[in-house]
Amino acid sequence: MRIIDFRSDTVTHPTPEMYRAMMEAELGDDEYGDDPTLNRLEALAAEMLGKKAAVFTPSGTMSNLVAILAHCRRGDEMIVGHRSHIFTDEGGGAATLGGVHVQTIHNDERGMLDPQEVEEAIRPDNVHFPTTGLIALENTHTSCGGVVLTQDDIGSVARVARKHHIPLHIDGARIFNASVYLETPVSELVKDADSVSFCLSKGLSCPIGSLLCGSEEFIKKARFWRETVGGGMRQVGVIAAAGIVALESMIDRLAEDHANARRLALGLSRIPGIDIDPDRYPTNQVYFQVTAGPPAELARLLEERGIKGGAKTKNWRFVTHYGIGPEEVDHALETIKDIFEHCKIN
Ligand SMILES: Cc1ncc(COP(=O)(O)O)c(C=O)c1O
Repeated sequence: MRIIDFRSDTVTHPTPEMYRAMMEAELGDDEYGDDPTLNRLEALAAEMLGKKAAVFTPSGTMSNLVAILAHCRRGDEMIVGHRSHIFTDEGGGAATLGGVHVQTIHNDERGMLDPQEVEEAIRPDNVHFPTTGLIALENTHTSCGGVVLTQDDIGSVARVARKHHIPLHIDGARIFNASVYLETPVSELVKDADSVSFCLSKGLSCPIGSLLCGSEEFIKKARFWRETVGGGMRQVGVIAAAGIVALESMIDRLAEDHANARRLALGLSRIPGIDIDPDRYPTNQVYFQVTAGPPAELARLLEERGIKGGAKTKNWRFVTHYGIGPEEVDHALETIKDIFEHCKIN
């Protein structure tokens, strides 16, 4: 049976070219700074992001955590959106491991923070208050629908951050989706941020890995914190080789994922029993509500026919990625329509 897995772009497997590069990678011990393949990947990432240096971590969560630890002191506070991945989905690591207090402010539908609200959230110098040590944005914004912040959006928050001498971090797990959507070089898009994390293991199809980019001084601190949280590794070239292939050949094709997500969203909008505004999803994530029947049962029936991605609640998210083309989208739409129309489970 053909499996079409919409659960996330994290389910992607390495491409044949990645497997080849991994097999042939020149290796060394990265704890000695000796892995030539990893060194190449970090240099390439820094150059592409327009930053001076980069450090590899096993996951996006660790990249964000290490960024927080490197920017903040214990007892500081960071300002993030109330729907940000850092706040909702990273185990509260900033607090548990960094002693960093989190203040959330409202994410609008575009995942944006109002610069004025950011400024009001910055703590004045007062014995009662923690010190604001970091402001973080997310781009693309996952839980707001894979939505995109522009360079101007980022600049408007960066101006506030700079005025108050507070660093700005971007959780750019899917920053290349944003840059491809905006047709803006990623270095331009993030030029006002002090640090940016991005993932190799999502739409770029690598099995493992994330990079944190910033100034040399910041990355030096980040390396220390990566070591502290157990993220120092040895012959990392095995996975870094896939990352180089991704950065050299997998970015432009993200536009295909966006086009397939659009095709999916429009198709879903024509199926009775689905509530969706198909115009809300610019990149590869499509959110919708299922009203045709008990969601868990619909999800089960779909999975029986090879379509993964349904949930137990009525709020569903389907993500397009390498391995899902227009044909897979059309097949999934037909299957969903068939199940939603003909399975009398109301
Ligand atoms: C916006 C965002 N940031 C960070 C992460 C964490 O990445 P990882 O799963 O590699 O820890 C994710 C994961 O989906 C994400 O969507």
